[in-house]
Amino acid sequence: MLEERAKRERFLAQGAALAAACRKCEIGSQRRNSVYGEGDPCASLMVIGEGPGETEDLLGRPFVGRAGQLLDKMLAAIGFAREEVYICNTVKCRPTIPGPRGPKNRAPDLNEMANCRPFLDEQIEIVRPRVILALGAPAAKSFLGREFQITKMRGRWYEGPVGIPLMVTFHPAYVLRQTGGEVTAVKRMVWADLKAVRAKLDEPPPERPVEQAALFDAP
Ligand code: URA
Repeated sequence: MLEERAKRERFLAQGAALAAACRKCEIGSQRRNSVYGEGDPCASLMVIGEGPGETEDLLGRPFVGRAGQLLDKMLAAIGFAREEVYICNTVKCRPTIPGPRGPKNRAPDLNEMANCRPFLDEQIEIVRPRVILALGAPAAKSFLGREFQITKMRGRWYEGPVGIPLMVTFHPAYVLRQTGGEVTAVKRMVWADLKAVRAKLDEPPPERPVEQAALFDAP
C-alpha cells in the first residue's frame, strides 16, 4: 500500500506540474498560482468544487478560504479529517472578472471547464475514490450536463466518471450566503446529503476497485 500511495503521489505531482504550466485559458495567465488539488491519494472520498477563489489562488491550495473552513466542518461531521479526503476543483485556475477593487471571483465558463477536464479526469483515475461529492451547480453540471438543477436534483445518487457513485450537494459558499430561516433549511439538506455519503462509504467495499488494477499493474 505504501508503494501504491507513493506511485499515486508521483502521478498527482506530475499532473500538478502540467496544470501549473498550462496556459490554455486566459485565466491561466492571470492567476497567481494554479490550484491542482490536495489530500489523500488513496482517499475513499473525493470532493470537487467549482474553482479556486482569491485565498486559494494566493496559497495554491483548494478550499482554504471561508468556504473551505465550512467544508472542513462538513467533512468532520461525517468523520473525516480534511487530510483523509482528496479535494480539488473543476478548474485549476481562479476565474475572475475585473472589479473596482481588483479581480473578483466568477464561476468557470464551459470552455474553461472543458480545457481543464483532462486534469480532473486524471485525478479521478489516479485516486479512484469510492464516492465523489460535487459541491454546487457548476461542478454538478460538469458531470451531469447543463440541465442539472441543484435545488431539484441534489441529494440523489448519480453515476459519475468511471462508474463512481456521485452525490451533489450545495456549495459551502452558498450555505454561507443564506440568511434567516434559509440557513437552517439549506443546512438540513446538506446534512442529509452528507449522511448519504457516509452511509455509502460504510457499505462494504467492492471486492476490487473498478479497473484500478489496469492503471497500476505492470504492463
Ligand atoms: N470554492 C471552490 O469551489 N473551490 C475552492 O477551492 C474554494 C472555493
